[in-house]
Amino acid sequence: MTLDLPPAEIGKVTSARRALEFVQPDMKLGLGTGSTAAWLVKLLAHEVRANGLKISACATSSVTTELAESLGIKIHALDDLGQLDLAIDGADEFDPDFNLVKGGGGALLQEKIVETAADKLVVITDASKQVDHLGAFALPVEVVKFSWKTTQRLVEDALAYQDVDGRAVMRRGGDKPFVTDEGHFILDLQLDRIGNPRAISNALLNIAGVVETGLFLDMADTIVMGDANGTASVLDKSDTDDSNWIDTVMDWAGSVQDVKGLLDGL
Ligand code: A5P
Repeated sequence: MTLDLPPAEIGKVTSARRALEFVQPDMKLGLGTGSTAAWLVKLLAHEVRANGLKISACATSSVTTELAESLGIKIHALDDLGQLDLAIDGADEFDPDFNLVKGGGGALLQEKIVETAADKLVVITDASKQVDHLGAFALPVEVVKFSWKTTQRLVEDALAYQDVDGRAVMRRGGDKPFVTDEGHFILDLQLDRIGNPRAISNALLNIAGVVETGLFLDMADTIVMGDANGTASVLDKSDTDDSNWIDTVMDWAGSVQDVKGLLDGL
């Protein structure tokens, strides 16, 4: 692993490193999915191995389970842990009301189940995820395989009824449909702008074939935004003033060295 990281990766390490400061010994943790969450898992594994941090963790996907266990973090079933103290995860977009679009990695269902069961959700991001209105990123919707084309049609009808001009495109993984950990398909809704996230969420969840949507509304408590210079900006939802982001300069290079040391020692 090199320290010559692209700027976007520096932002991810920075936000993950800052989010680690929310983790206390003996916490029950939910670990997110995606490239930013992967940094969090690696940094957490370093704390566990090098500094003896004790936590109990569950994961939001098979990918995160595999990564965590390969680095020595035991992954428990959420059902065995019960209510979690904290979940930390990435996002594809967040708006000024702390509403999120998630599911770019296809793990939205397990993410929503785990993160709904957490006392606090910390979202780790970079500035590219900050938007005034959700919707530029295609909204993932998890649907059952059975009669998925009918569900696709009903989803598009529901969007038209909401006055949204949108298409629902089946996600593919190579030349096959993408299949989630729960064995479902994903429709990516190309909407451009989601004017009323709650109304769209309710309309979609009313369709029998829809399992879950990537709209995470009223769930995030804290946003951590890392930048390419190694500054992490933190805003809590209770802080309604947008100018109250608290900046901390993080030792992102030291964090990358820690991860390198961890991987070299395996
Ligand atoms: C996974 O399904 C997603 O919800 C991710 O949390 C989201 O796509 C952010 O991923 P990155 O950190 O890779 O941008």
